[in-house]
Amino acid sequence: PHVIYLSRHGQSEYNVLGKLGGNPPLSPAGQEYARRPAQPLQLSRWHATRAAALSLSLPDAASVGSRSGSPRVYRNLDEIFAGEYEGMTYEEIKKIAPSEATLRSMDKIGYRYPRGESYFDILARLDPLVHELESYHEPLLLVSHQAVLRLLYSYLMGKPRHQAPKVEIPLHTVIRITYDGWNPPYEERFVLG
Ligand code: F6P
Repeated sequence: PHVIYLSRHGQSEYNVLGKLGGNPPLSPAGQEYARRPAQPLQLSRWHATRAAALSLSLPDAASVGSRSGSPRVYRNLDEIFAGEYEGMTYEEIKKIAPSEATLRSMDKIGYRYPRGESYFDILARLDPLVHELESYHEPLLLVSHQAVLRLLYSYLMGKPRHQAPKVEIPLHTVIRITYDGWNPPYEERFVLG
């Protein structure tokens, strides 16, 4: 069977402040999550946690990422781009553009941030990556962001797409999904926070 591990990056300063997007440094708790390898953490949150998570003490983690010998960065795994609202909180958005917030709540998967992305846009950029991933047979670890992982998780678990934008993908948790194309996929969660 295929085994895919999914993890969000360690908690970032923006996560603490409730701000969207950006590429802020890890918070102390996020650094704690990423501390496992002896890896200096002056890198961006993405790189720091990605490198770190490769050495998480999970059963078959030793083989994770070993295919190419080193981890790879895929821009397809970038977080949903909030366009004009990058770096803002949900409250700030509601204040300056109440109708936008309402539109998003009515159609979360289809709503596109002004000059930004929608969940559907993420699906389009994930498509080629998913084909590539499915050709791998080694366990694989993907470290990404909340919106992207909601879609990947839902796809791998066979959950309805329109519900994906509301799926719970907590921080500091590794989700292991096992599937073989015949039996129902199943997941295990390792809370490491
Ligand atoms: O809060 C972290 C974050 O990754 C944001 O950068 C992103 O906009 C958001 O989560 C996605 O969640 P939602 O689609 O529920 O706003």
